[in-house]
Amino acid sequence: MKIAVIGAGYAGLISAVGWAGRGHDVACIDTDGSKISKISKGVPPIFEKDLGERLRGVINAGRLKAGTDYSAVSGSDIVVIAVGTPSLPDGSVDLSHVRSACSAVADELKKDDAFSVVAMRSTVLPGTTEKVVGPIIEKSGMRFGLAMVPEFLREGSALSDFDKPDRIVVGCSDDKTRNIMEELYKSFDCQKLFTDIKTAEMIKYASNAFLASRVALANETANICQRIGVDSEEVMKGVGMDSRIGPHFLVPGSGFGGSCLPKDVKALANHAKESGENVPVLHAITESNAKQKLRLFEMLSRIMPVSRKRIAVLGLAFKPDTDDIRESPALALIQKLLEAGAAVCAYDPEAMGGMRDMFPSIEYAGDWEECLSGCDAALLVTAWPEFMKSAEEYKKALGNAPLLDARRILAPNTAAEAGLNYHPIGKSGWP
Ligand SMILES: NC(=O)c1ccc[n+]([C@@H]2O[C@H](COP(=O)([O-])OP(=O)(O)OC[C@H]3O[C@@H](n4cnc5c(N)ncnc54)[C@H](O)[C@@H]3O)[C@@H](O)[C@H]2O)c1
Repeated sequence: MKIAVIGAGYAGLISAVGWAGRGHDVACIDTDGSKISKISKGVPPIFEKDLGERLRGVINAGRLKAGTDYSAVSGSDIVVIAVGTPSLPDGSVDLSHVRSACSAVADELKKDDAFSVVAMRSTVLPGTTEKVVGPIIEKSGMRFGLAMVPEFLREGSALSDFDKPDRIVVGCSDDKTRNIMEELYKSFDCQKLFTDIKTAEMIKYASNAFLASRVALANETANICQRIGVDSEEVMKGVGMDSRIGPHFLVPGSGFGGSCLPKDVKALANHAKESGENVPVLHAITESNAKQKLRLFEMLSRIMPVSRKRIAVLGLAFKPDTDDIRESPALALIQKLLEAGAAVCAYDPEAMGGMRDMFPSIEYAGDWEECLSGCDAALLVTAWPEFMKSAEEYKKALGNAPLLDARRILAPNTAAEAGLNYHPIGKSGWP
């Protein structure tokens, strides 16, 4: 099939490389010329496992081309819209990128009388594809079908999620569109749900709201455990053994971040309000998460006055194996540390570039040991494999300075044996 993917960010590029790898001819279109120039040379503009090799493979096979020019849209069987849908200050969704991408697509579709499916990959609220995208494409005067194919990838394992998804959800406007989308996904061996467009849009938001609620509840449970002297890891193990609950997404930490959960929970709550529905749980998830992002700061403040202290922050990306810092807990934490008068030294294996633009005045270390060197306390925010060191190694790097750990990388008994001043989130003992 001939596919045009509009927007070569995390979602668009992964799908483009994935479909090209399955033998389709894919054109990747983005308005960001520097991104396109990298992609054309086989250099991924984002950090994602195996992406470089897979990207070069499909370029060399002649299956993927990248450009800023929309002309490749014309004659495509499927045009996939994967541009950003960021939050506006009131929590609603900014559709400006979707609108401009769709207008440009409509202009190109006019040039060919082939039937194309315009498929939304961007996360948009229920009703958006039919009420916003449809009318813009209609201006082309051409015959087209509409679809919604929500993206469920997890950054850090995005390509393997593409290859082996838990499920594929496709909302279609009509049977012809459904046949084309079935053809696109016929090589995928997983559960598939074909439904209407509005339902597919809602499934994406409902999934993210459920995931976010689990994380928020795991965090609050761990916080209670920490106060009352119970080990939350053991508690979660017991909770997860219940088949109605299951073991996934029950790990406490510094709060969820990234480009999806925070904005999608806010957008759904905002949408609910507009539709007249009161949703206290959705609002509480956002509130709870904002509080959790400052949990390590709260713990640190109980151990020492933060002003004029040198605090090391290990991990800036919102999760390991990505360079994405959007809504990362590290942003709120560093901001709070600076407001409290601390000097911050930070390190992340992949996410320092974007961070330097946001916090140009803090110190950035070349590796984890340099980051810890001479600090008064260290905060471990992101569970990068590079930070999985032994208690002895941390003791050597930190001396008596405390390590406050949001990811619980050490067994508390090994930390105690090494003489490490160790304070994991959710472990008995409120500092
Ligand atoms: N990142 C994820 O893990 C993920 C997962 C699921 C769903 N999503 C959804 O996918 C969508 C994209 O997210 P992302 O993280 O890939 O965003 P991103 O910011 O990484 O990428 C968006 C890209 O779209 C490009 N763009 C903007 N306007 C354009 C236009 N008019 N024409 C062509 N290109 C244009 C931008 O230059 C950018 O490269 C969002 O709706 C997001 O909610 C993302």
